Amino acid sequence: MTCRRGALIVLEGVDRAGKTTQCKMLVQALEQSGHQAEMIRFPDRTTKIGQLISSYLEKRSNLEDHTVHLLFSANRWELVPLMKQKLEQGINLVVDRYAFSGVAFTSAKPGFSLDWCMHPDVGLPKPDLVMYLQLSLNVASKRGEFGAERYETSVFQRAVQKRFEQLKEKDPLVNWKVIDAARSIEEVHREIKILSEKAISAAENQPIGELWK
Ligand code: ADP
Ligand code: TYD
Repeated sequence: MTCRRGALIVLEGVDRAGKTTQCKMLVQALEQSGHQAEMIRFPDRTTKIGQLISSYLEKRSNLEDHTVHLLFSANRWELVPLMKQKLEQGINLVVDRYAFSGVAFTSAKPGFSLDWCMHPDVGLPKPDLVMYLQLSLNVASKRGEFGAERYETSVFQRAVQKRFEQLKEKDPLVNWKVIDAARSIEEVHREIKILSEKAISAAENQPIGELWK
């Protein structure tokens, strides 16, 4: 018996755009309509590499900028066998941040090009759909204060947002959809669900692609 593969669905966007809220709602909605679905998030702070990243983000340790970029990428690669296994079993994966955050955050630092930042993630499982939750930083700021982690400042987030926009424009090989994340949680969810159902149908008979190849 051949099993239809699951789709790899990624949500991206700046802090407080609603990624985590929407990932959880999407998994629930997909399950309710009879699909298998699981959520994963990057960084995965539970692995050894993830713990190094977590300590860096919490400012308990310092890491050189190229080094931490490669650790974020390695943290995705170490999950690839499990991700592929689940996709091949027909489980749809809903992913909170992926390589696009990797590129946007590191390239927001001085001296990093988009190209350099993309390289370590070339060949990762390619998302069937990337939904970019677009939100102005003014609206995002009304959703709560920044936390104390590294990168959680408005100056840095502005630079990250610019890089996300540039990456989206130069990335015709990826199925990007821009979602207006300023609407209500329910409205955003409805659009995300429709796009995801379409991506699941389109992906089921296609092999898993390779990112940026
Ligand atoms: P992210 O994962 O992108 O950082 P979250 O899903 O954690 O964002 O949401 C950040 C905050 O904004 C939470 O308090 C959440 O309840 C709220 N929020 C999420 N989506 C919306 C929305 N569409 N409208 C208003 N508030 C929202
Ligand atoms: P996360 O744990 O998702 O926190 P949040 O709840 O704030 O979204 O992400 C941690 C931080 O790591 C976030 O500021 C984005 C950043 N990041 C990178 O710098 N590179 C990456 O590859 C990823 C996945 C995240």
